[in-house]
Amino acid sequence: MIPIVTIDGPSGSGKGTLAKKLSIDLKWNYLDSGLLYRCYAFFYRKKTQEIDQELASLKFNFSDEMEQVIWNQTDITQELRGNEITLLSSELSQRKEVRKELYLIQKSYHKMPGLIAEGRDMSSTVFPNSKIKIFLTASIDQRVQRRANQLRNAGQKVNISELKKEIELRDSRDTERIHSPLSIVEGAIKIDNTNESVETTIKRVKKLIYERY
Ligand code: DC
Repeated sequence: MIPIVTIDGPSGSGKGTLAKKLSIDLKWNYLDSGLLYRCYAFFYRKKTQEIDQELASLKFNFSDEMEQVIWNQTDITQELRGNEITLLSSELSQRKEVRKELYLIQKSYHKMPGLIAEGRDMSSTVFPNSKIKIFLTASIDQRVQRRANQLRNAGQKVNISELKKEIELRDSRDTERIHSPLSIVEGAIKIDNTNESVETTIKRVKKLIYERY
């Protein structure tokens, strides 16, 4: 049995930070499924014919503080995190055929010694047999602030009220879509980290991992 922890939640809930840190500490594999949807949107916008072949050619480099996606020897990380791809990936992720195309790629990350998978439908659809399902969330204002800090750190200008509207739009698309909407599945542990440090959340999840695996 290959251990797995699935972490789902809305934009800005801190899933990425939590999942990345856990995977580094445990030396497990890491799946940022949202990043795959972003890569899909990147190739879709380029009108690429064989998107799956291009997806397979990507190189993902992660460390505690950074992430990098390399395509054709070019660093495309900034573009993937930019506004255009953020909106396009949110739109495309509603389509059944897009979700189907990414399904097997996501499954292929489930390898020894273990996997931390984060996204919207990790616990419900992609890895429903996961023994540790986390639903991570935080208040809308906290999530807006986190996203604003991310954008500022990337050198972008931020308009808080527009950002809030954009996040609310993505929230409603994620929760109301027909195919694999974001939801709290049975057995999931809900963690609201509005007033909780990353370290505290990590400790809580590690305790669950030691108990259940
Ligand atoms: O987590 P993120 O913001 O990088 O994800 C980008 C988009 O992909 C987001 O709008 C929702 C979608 N997504 C999804 O539908 N299912 C997932 N498992 C992960 C992301």
